[in-house]
Amino acid sequence: MHSYTTSSHTSSTMSSATSKPLQYLALFLLAQLTHSVFIPKPKNRDEHKPQLSNTYIVQANHHLKPSRFATLEHWYISMVATHTPRATNGTAAVAGRILYTYDTVIHGFAVRLTADESRRVSRAPGVTAVHEGKMYYPQTTRSPGFIGLDREYGLWSDTDFGDGVIIGVIDSGIWPESPSFNDSGLGPVRRSWKGGCVGLDANLCNNKLVGAKDFSAAEDGGPSSPRDGVGHGTHVASTAAGSEVHDAGLFMFAQGTARGVAPKARIAMYKCGGDVGCSDAAIIAGMDAAVRDGVDIISISLGGFPVPFYDDSLAIATFGAEREGVFVALAGGNDGPVPYSVTNVAPWMTTVGAGAVDRLFPANLTLGSGEVLIGQSLYTKKATRTTMTPLVFLTSCDEESLSPDVVMGKVVVCLQFDGVYAGMLLQNAGGAGLVAVQGDEWHGDGVVAEAFSLPALTLSYSKAEKLRDYMESVANPVASFGFACETVTGENRAPTAVGFSSRGPNSVVPELLKPDVLAPGLNILAAWPSDIPVSMLDLDTRRSDYNIMSGTSMACPHAAGVAALIKKRHGDWTPAMIRSAMMTTAATLDNSGRDITDQGVQLRVANATFTSATPLATGAGHVRPQLAMDPGLVYNAGAKDYVDFLCSLNYTVEQLRAFVPDTAGCTTTLSGGPANLNYPSFVVAFNGSTHVRTLTRTMTKVYEKPETYSVTVSAPAEVKVTVMPATLVFKEKNEKKRYTVEFRSVARRHVNQSWEFGHISWENRKHQVRSPVVFMWN
Ligand SMILES: *[C@@H]1O[C@H](CO)[C@@H](O)[C@H](O)[C@H]1NC(C)=O
Ligand SMILES: *[C@@H]1O[C@H](CO)[C@@H](O)[C@H](O)[C@H]1NC(C)=O
Ligand SMILES: *[C@@H]1O[C@H](CO)[C@@H](O)[C@H](O)[C@H]1NC(C)=O
Ligand SMILES: *[C@@H]1O[C@H](CO)[C@@H](O)[C@H](O)[C@H]1NC(C)=O
Ligand SMILES: *[C@@H]1O[C@H](CO)[C@@H](O)[C@H](O)[C@H]1NC(C)=O
Ligand SMILES: *[C@@H]1O[C@H](CO)[C@@H](O)[C@H](O)[C@H]1NC(C)=O
Ligand SMILES: *[C@@H]1O[C@H](CO)[C@@H](O)[C@H](O)[C@H]1NC(C)=O
Repeated sequence: MHSYTTSSHTSSTMSSATSKPLQYLALFLLAQLTHSVFIPKPKNRDEHKPQLSNTYIVQANHHLKPSRFATLEHWYISMVATHTPRATNGTAAVAGRILYTYDTVIHGFAVRLTADESRRVSRAPGVTAVHEGKMYYPQTTRSPGFIGLDREYGLWSDTDFGDGVIIGVIDSGIWPESPSFNDSGLGPVRRSWKGGCVGLDANLCNNKLVGAKDFSAAEDGGPSSPRDGVGHGTHVASTAAGSEVHDAGLFMFAQGTARGVAPKARIAMYKCGGDVGCSDAAIIAGMDAAVRDGVDIISISLGGFPVPFYDDSLAIATFGAEREGVFVALAGGNDGPVPYSVTNVAPWMTTVGAGAVDRLFPANLTLGSGEVLIGQSLYTKKATRTTMTPLVFLTSCDEESLSPDVVMGKVVVCLQFDGVYAGMLLQNAGGAGLVAVQGDEWHGDGVVAEAFSLPALTLSYSKAEKLRDYMESVANPVASFGFACETVTGENRAPTAVGFSSRGPNSVVPELLKPDVLAPGLNILAAWPSDIPVSMLDLDTRRSDYNIMSGTSMACPHAAGVAALIKKRHGDWTPAMIRSAMMTTAATLDNSGRDITDQGVQLRVANATFTSATPLATGAGHVRPQLAMDPGLVYNAGAKDYVDFLCSLNYTVEQLRAFVPDTAGCTTTLSGGPANLNYPSFVVAFNGSTHVRTLTRTMTKVYEKPETYSVTVSAPAEVKVTVMPATLVFKEKNEKKRYTVEFRSVARRHVNQSWEFGHISWENRKHQVRSPVVFMWN
């Protein structure tokens, strides 16, 4: 199963799934502790487990269907009936166990089976693979303006705001009445579009919301409706392609014009689940329908465990979407900043990490000593200064700890990730206010702003240390709050890599850098269902048509929207070309002209508030749509390159058949291994016996006029880099040129499992085509 990618609802188990070097053991223990303490488990998850463990995804080679079966469905039903002896009740009962059939991104079906039955079915003629169903979780925790999209600057008008491009969103459903889905001024959807709305009043769909289908009911039971009962899907969809809406905001915060990244692109929602997350069986059903309906882009703000691609049904299905020319963006996960935490890591996926934007919601905590600590809050009652109130520190802020005799009339300091819930409990117990300290030091100074219901704010770790020092220094610590209820933009360094954003290296293929790019994912305003509480908590009575959320869930649709703008301008580009354009033009400097910083580094080690973010956190950098429209050169790749890549991982014929049902095995591979895939980033792995790595890349010219490029290299002193040739002369559009890079490690003795960073950049006066390079010593 897979989950949405917001920070307050992150899954907690990912870090245990992969094997890591010993030296990181301590870090992972810390991470797990953090998660179990600070991140609430999604509701009802356990109730669903027994049932979901019985869902299997069966891949079949449709070319092998015996002619006696009229349709693939008949064949599948017979397959199940034959191999499940208990199912003696005839085809109706067997058909009832089949949840979905797939015929576009993969061929096969999802079915409820016992483990024994699944083993038998896996041996049936024509079956290429059987995968046990998995769960994926939402990755939630400013934005088009911040990434450089602005009416005045021409990009939106140059791309006609992405008009007509269709983005399929696989998520928790949609709130069709939201003003962000108003189609005023939009022409009809293109005639080749095969999608539509099912289970919603026809008049709720329009030229903006051009499709809405539900794939969650088959598993979850209940009536089928693509309506969003969670909020996540509505938020994500409007982030990618919401229409322009004036005077949007959450209460008095972030007021202004809300619009998606591609405000005239069209949205098709494929609902895959509710607040628990989505099963891979339902996600694939949604993707299958989306590709068949004719979407251009798919956005998936869900994450699960990184596993080998042949066992990763989402990797297999996204491979199918890529083969059909559909660009797929996925959330990289919220399990940062520990290494090896990034998820959705196949090379045909565009994996998106979360950046912080230049917008803050400041609130003050004035200590009895007079010191003012500035935190963030979405609390709505203005106050210049509340009365000085006694402070009390609690390590746990659950219902039991927040008893009235401890908290009555006090300001409680909590180590808390989901502060709104703690605040409500505290309010019931008579507390006067809450200071939420964001996680532990690993979260650094990135602060998720929360809509508290009582006087409260969130402090970053470095501010919390000052609070602790004060509380330890006096017998009766007191503090007061100041709430200006303002939204401050343009004053902080941005973008930054947010602490919770999952990090490389890639645990499945360390020689492929993930995430690919950063996009805004902290405190993002977007549409919200008008009858869902703003905190998603049942006891919260507050409602709003717009809400502020954080997570790689929010970053992913930004990348999908940028892809829609590129697709509008360059209709014939492959998904790899679109990703390349985003990556090679991404920003590595922030609004102060210095390196993008990482909020997730351990402050004590760094002994500084800011430390440069590495490509393990940012990938190629923060997306710059304006530049991505005109990258000059791109690194292209297609299904054959990806199959060669899988062959370089030494996949067996059986494993390969999950991707290519008819294959007889590998005929070619990538000389030099997986690092030699024609990807816009480099990972160079040295080990005890390998001191020299030679990699090749092929670039395709996409700029019209003749151009000459020279290479610029940055590398640590212990690596000598030679690029051949060092100058490339391009004449024709679509012309391809190859270059070779030799990386020679001259490190006398390098610490095992250490990383260094650099870049390779092809430049002239008009274009800069930059690739990050990660050096690893094993
Ligand atoms: C590096 O570390 C790995 C895992 O910790 C170990 O298997 C390997 O032998 C080490 N290599 C060297 C050269 O020390
Ligand atoms: C046959 O179907 C009935 C009704 O659906 C069910 O109660 C019964 O358990 C089934 N028998 C078997 C052997 O599956
Ligand atoms: C959509 O927007 C237009 C123009 O702003 C407005 O006139 C119309 O009432 C809106 N439609 C709905 C259903 O809100
Ligand atoms: C918060 O503190 C800052 C710095 O001391 C001050 O400029 C600002 O006015 C304060 N805001 C409120 C609402 O108290
Ligand atoms: C580290 O930070 C402390 C406290 O700010 C400072 O006193 C010390 O000089 C710093 N050390 C280094 C090496 O920068
Ligand atoms: C694949 O097999 C070759 C030859 O045995 C080996 O050199 C290479 O390291 C293997 N690659 C991977 C990714 O396991
Ligand atoms: C070093 O890397 C090369 C190339 O990837 C691989 O073939 C070899 O097995 C590795 N050696 C060790 C000791 O890991």
